[in-house]
Amino acid sequence: MHERQLTPLDRFLSGVNDALRTVAVPAGRSARQSPAEGVAETDLSTRAKTHAAGLMRVNHAGEIAAQGLYQGHAAVARDPAISEQMQHAADEEFDHLAWCEQRLAELDAEPSRLSPFWYAGSFAMGTASGLLGDRWSLGFIAETERQVCEHLTGHLQRLPQEDARSRAIVSQMRDDERRHGENAVDAGAAELPQPIRKLMQLTSKIMTKTAYRI
Ligand SMILES: [Fe+2]
Ligand SMILES: [Fe+2]
Repeated sequence: MHERQLTPLDRFLSGVNDALRTVAVPAGRSARQSPAEGVAETDLSTRAKTHAAGLMRVNHAGEIAAQGLYQGHAAVARDPAISEQMQHAADEEFDHLAWCEQRLAELDAEPSRLSPFWYAGSFAMGTASGLLGDRWSLGFIAETERQVCEHLTGHLQRLPQEDARSRAIVSQMRDDERRHGENAVDAGAAELPQPIRKLMQLTSKIMTKTAYRI
């Protein structure tokens, strides 16, 4: 199918639209049904509910950041096939965002108040690594997804056992993130230097600690 070439202004306006769509609540409908669909709600103690909400707020903030990262990468990707792969991953990340938001509402909690900040910071990082070239951009994605998988595994250990709905969501997200990482490696991701990987870990630690509360 023939597609019209996008001008820089088209790209900019579509970027603004993506940003507003991401940080707006409600985020909109997910393309895929939530994995929590059909999983029975359980009675959670106040303490368990607050803890689950804190963890799901962190995951929601992570998905806001994922939108920023992928959209940042896609905006500057040189190879159209890679840009398209990133856009496809961003669409799946959007499902994650909507699922987390829905779960937060069920837990009577709200997303992080710092969402615009998480988005802007990660969009800047995505664009910056993208400008270094597709191999580095893919390397950044592969490493991010690897760290996110580890993080989600940690959450599956920390989420209350009885909170089956949150667990179903996190588990599906982890499967998707693993695939995103593998796809980035297959597409030719460069291995990031150790100091950069450490810095990424530190940044996500700050984000997870903050978003658990605000
Ligand atoms: Fe995700
Ligand atoms: Fe992902």
